[in-house]
Amino acid sequence: MAATDVSKHGMWSSQWLFVLAAAGSAVGLGNIWKFPYMAGENGGGAFVVVYLLCVALIGIPIMMSEVLLGREGRLSPINTMRSLALKAKGSPLWVIVGWMGVLAGFLILSYYSMIAGWAFHYVLRLADGTFTGADGEFASQAFESFLVQPWQMIFWHTLFMAVTIFIVARGVSRGLEVAIKIFMPTLFVLMIVLVGYSMTSGGFAEGFAFMFNFDWARLSVDGVLQAMGHAFFTLSLGMGAIMAYGAYMPGSASIAKTVVAIAVLDTLVALAAGLVIFPIVFANGLEPGQGPGLMFVTMPLAFGQMPLGTLFGTAFFVLVSFAAITSAISLLEPALAFLVERYNAQRHRVAISLGVLCWVLGLGSVFSFNYWKDFHIVRELNFFSFVDYLSANVMLPLGGFLIVLFVGWVVPRAIVEEQMSLSRGFRNIAWQLLVRVVAPVGVLVVFGYQIYGSLN
Ligand code: TRP
Repeated sequence: MAATDVSKHGMWSSQWLFVLAAAGSAVGLGNIWKFPYMAGENGGGAFVVVYLLCVALIGIPIMMSEVLLGREGRLSPINTMRSLALKAKGSPLWVIVGWMGVLAGFLILSYYSMIAGWAFHYVLRLADGTFTGADGEFASQAFESFLVQPWQMIFWHTLFMAVTIFIVARGVSRGLEVAIKIFMPTLFVLMIVLVGYSMTSGGFAEGFAFMFNFDWARLSVDGVLQAMGHAFFTLSLGMGAIMAYGAYMPGSASIAKTVVAIAVLDTLVALAAGLVIFPIVFANGLEPGQGPGLMFVTMPLAFGQMPLGTLFGTAFFVLVSFAAITSAISLLEPALAFLVERYNAQRHRVAISLGVLCWVLGLGSVFSFNYWKDFHIVRELNFFSFVDYLSANVMLPLGGFLIVLFVGWVVPRAIVEEQMSLSRGFRNIAWQLLVRVVAPVGVLVVFGYQIYGSLN
């Protein structure tokens, strides 16, 4: 039985560590930085509803599909797709899904590293009391003036990439596993404390209403695509990261249960981040749709006003940085595992080469906020927003769509049923319905709506 095989890259020491590692990949800047600003730009409630629907109906089936492919193939996503396509007597072209994933991971990591670098910078700014007693004006100004200094940004971007390379190079070692064990619960507790603070900030009712009042009119056609793209992004889906992690998962664990746990955890962190940020936005007369700077303006402001703000603020940005690291490593893992398999290369060499390439690409995003500010690739998208848009809103959903089609229609049913421990019965029917119809059609509907919308 293939499910009991092991991967040559190593294995998670238990089912629990798979959950932690996958949750470490899923919970990241996407939850704390990206989700609130995207919800802010897209009018709140309706965006949140579409995002939640996409997580439940599209994200969860696709995540299960990725895990089961990984665990069946036990190789890097590229070679897993290749070997399973062969086994299923399907087209060898399925391997393209693996290649596209590697590319998407690259694009995402390039700017992810820059944003994580901002978080590194803010660790220091909070620790040295820059924001103590600051007002909204000051917090916005501080962020603006940071963005126009490319050298500072490059410094932090470099540091983040170096840390990521270092960790990936060592293998998903005990060090990382231990770090995740400490960090995940701490992040959870801190988020709860911050939600508590936010409730007393005076803007809670307004912030809550903004996030949960469903007003379809405020969501643009493009906002729907963004909500779906974000569901993929936040769950780390569509590019093979979860497939790569699934390859190191013990054969005995239940895929359905672990995936649901990961998705619920990820969603709770995102909703908590929104419930922290929006009340602060409204209590201080800030703009919810201000874009990528949202977290970097609101959080320092709140910490500057609360008792023990220096302590909590520093801790907050340290945790954000950690969350980013445990995600970043999963963006590199598919490409890395592939090169190790292909050339029998040493892990650390591959990690360094890939990391440097990504770092160079990331400079484009750094310059998007200063030197290349007025340079637009298409429409109003500068280099950074273009890379983000293309990877999250196009490549991930497309990759996920192909993955779920592959599992639903190409991989022999016996293999899938064994991996999912499904016997004939209601659960099996529900599963077939989700992977064969609901998830792929869901992606097509959102893509179709976008195309229809742009023609009108
Ligand atoms: N999910 C992470 C976040 O929300 C980012 C991430 C890690 C990711 N690995 C990924 C996104 C793979 C897409 C694909 O911050």
